Amino acid sequence: MQQLQADFRDPECVQPVDFTEHDAPNQLMHNLEGRGFAVATMAEPGAPDATITSLSAALRLGEPYIPALYRYAETKDYSAPYSDIRSDTKDEHPGFSTTAGQAWHVDGLLDDIGDIKTTILYCVRAAHRGGDTLLFNSLAAFAELREKDPAAAETLLSPKALNRRSTIPAIDVNATGPVFSVDEKGALITRYTDNETCTWNFSAGPPGGLRRALAFLRAASNNPRYRLAVRLAPGQALIFRNDRLSHGRQPYEDKPDARRHLVRALYASAPNTP
Ligand SMILES: [Fe+2]
Repeated sequence: MQQLQADFRDPECVQPVDFTEHDAPNQLMHNLEGRGFAVATMAEPGAPDATITSLSAALRLGEPYIPALYRYAETKDYSAPYSDIRSDTKDEHPGFSTTAGQAWHVDGLLDDIGDIKTTILYCVRAAHRGGDTLLFNSLAAFAELREKDPAAAETLLSPKALNRRSTIPAIDVNATGPVFSVDEKGALITRYTDNETCTWNFSAGPPGGLRRALAFLRAASNNPRYRLAVRLAPGQALIFRNDRLSHGRQPYEDKPDARRHLVRALYASAPNTP
């Protein structure tokens, strides 16, 4: 997999693709395969949902996917196919509605590893200060760990390694699974998350393995080879492989009359072009 060799220090990584160019879908695919993500500058600012739809159609992503966590009566307020992410003191969602930073995670807390393959974040308005989206090439870090400490890496494949629990106040649900796995095509996939939703099972795998593996991944997530901050301008979209990268967010500050506003859509499909 090309992404295992990616170097996020390469300035090419954050070069946006002009979506109005006729081969934009192929350029986006090239970046997604090589790095796990791509940035697109969309045409004329229009309705966010329609703009995202034109991007998802070009990448043949199908319809947006509603995560398992948002299919309960208690969480149906979050079940829109296009979710507004902006600060809102009246809302209790721990990620969507605050200006706080977000630690490393993959989208889809209850979904099985690999189920949500693609995330699109479309920027309507950037933050006054901060608010970059952070990307961690957790797959490449895992591949390095496999070379250096196979026993620690094996721990992360245990189906009992990581439990994630919802932190939305209205609902108490959780799911256990591996941190990394191999899909039906033999490709590595990730669920690497290291935030307040996580309970680690230190008895999984060989003794001491999970502690060493976590220490390695935490260090790797600060290595600029594997970690990148992406600042989206209004009208730009970040498309990333949610099954191949972990992501987070820097904290941010809003101006009262101009809140940071992103719109998010998730897809069960991987991007592909004819
Ligand atoms: Fe997220």
